Amino acid sequence: MGNPACDLVLFGAMGDLATKKLFPALYHLHRAGLLPEQSRILALARRDLNKAGARQQIARGLEEYLEPEVMEADAMDGFLARVDYLKMDFSDAEGYQQLGEWHRQGGHGNVLVLYFATPPGLYGQITAHLCDAGCCDDSARVVVEKPIGQDLPSSQKLNDQLATAFREENIFRIDHYLGKETVQNLIALRFANNLFASQWDQNHISHVEITVAESVGVEGRWSYFNSAGQLRDMVQSHLLQLLCLLAMDPPSDLSPDSIRDEKVKVLKALAPLTPERISTHLVRGQYTAGTAEGVPVPGYLQEEDAGGASHTETFVALKVEIENWRWAGVPFYIRTGKRLPEKRSEVIVHFKPAPHYIFDPDQKYLANNKLIIRLQPDEGMSLQILTKDQGLSRGMRLRQGPLELTFAETFDTERIPDAYERLLLEAMKGNQYLFVRRDEVEHAWRWVDQLLANCDDCGAHPKRYAAGTWGPVAAIAMITRDGRSWYEDT
Ligand code: BG6
Repeated sequence: MGNPACDLVLFGAMGDLATKKLFPALYHLHRAGLLPEQSRILALARRDLNKAGARQQIARGLEEYLEPEVMEADAMDGFLARVDYLKMDFSDAEGYQQLGEWHRQGGHGNVLVLYFATPPGLYGQITAHLCDAGCCDDSARVVVEKPIGQDLPSSQKLNDQLATAFREENIFRIDHYLGKETVQNLIALRFANNLFASQWDQNHISHVEITVAESVGVEGRWSYFNSAGQLRDMVQSHLLQLLCLLAMDPPSDLSPDSIRDEKVKVLKALAPLTPERISTHLVRGQYTAGTAEGVPVPGYLQEEDAGGASHTETFVALKVEIENWRWAGVPFYIRTGKRLPEKRSEVIVHFKPAPHYIFDPDQKYLANNKLIIRLQPDEGMSLQILTKDQGLSRGMRLRQGPLELTFAETFDTERIPDAYERLLLEAMKGNQYLFVRRDEVEHAWRWVDQLLANCDDCGAHPKRYAAGTWGPVAAIAMITRDGRSWYEDT
């Protein structure tokens, strides 16, 4: 698909997301020659700035968040020249007329892409004003950020508000994990390699671990985070998306709907966490004071912007089961948390041992292959296989070692693009395959909602863990009960 010229309108252009992610990503696209010459950017925010002042502000953000080696004066000037600014109160109809004129008069047929980098509570109002100002025609696209709601009813309401103005194929719901190179690579790994495709089921896989660990705390977002918690903030979106990509059946092609249809089937097949299951399948935690990369850090309740007592979880471990032929009996252990020892996202696929074992009984614990998929950092894969230990004195001793693929080394990759570069590019191209469809969001909420409804403990204080550790000991107990352990504990 070509790369059409766009008028990209950024609501919330002076906010955190725009400063840290969107402008740096757009700069990279500009520098790589991926923004057509006629493409323009309109930054919208409440701040009282003129065009020159806004450009200065954006330039300062770029200097702070871009790697120094990509800063080039010509590229910077060229990029900033694309940016216009409009001071706007999003609840006031007036600014929208100006926005519409900006697009109609200067746009020369550019595709209108409206990016709502604002709290979701504003989506309805912004949409209504946009339509009144004639900015919702059939070709206009809208890009929205998570969280799409706090539960199923609120997500349905947001989706309805968007649907009053935009067709589903013009709504681009971001889950930035889908823009990560290695997450996309899961599709290539699974469906381009028959070696794995033929092994990817309950006959060959015993269990799967998905870990998304962060060493940071809540980073000045206490009040938002406290109303969401790790379950809504991370599991409902990123973790369930990863699970879907790992567990879905092969799509018949790479079209957005073929892929998303398969993901929805997985979401529908997730076993409910009934009241009987919940105590063995869910662990919630909250960090207390500890260390992060060797430096003392406060607990969640003592964070600078903390608002007092709270039962919000900053860590979740779950045992998830998928009720279908492919995955019956194969648990997916997933865990995610703030203030864990390191930033690391990875998937470990544990294969079943060979049906008949003929080696030293002492080494039987070694006897299953593992595929480790490192999503970030140090993106790559490693297949743990068993070989004979070399040397005359070793007999038939076994040894486990990796077949290793580190993307940066093997493919001599200069840099792995940030997720937002890919996502902005695909939204401007109108390609939806990396965006979340309405029914996906809603099925994910349905599952999270029933889990919360069945969880009597969720109103109580989560289990404590010290910052800088791998979560509450109950998370270890959860997997140990099944005779297994988290990968870093093996
Ligand atoms: C966001 C969450 O969606 O993802 C944050 O709201 C989290 O709480 C972030 O820190 C993690 O993203 P990444 O790309 O740093 O793994």
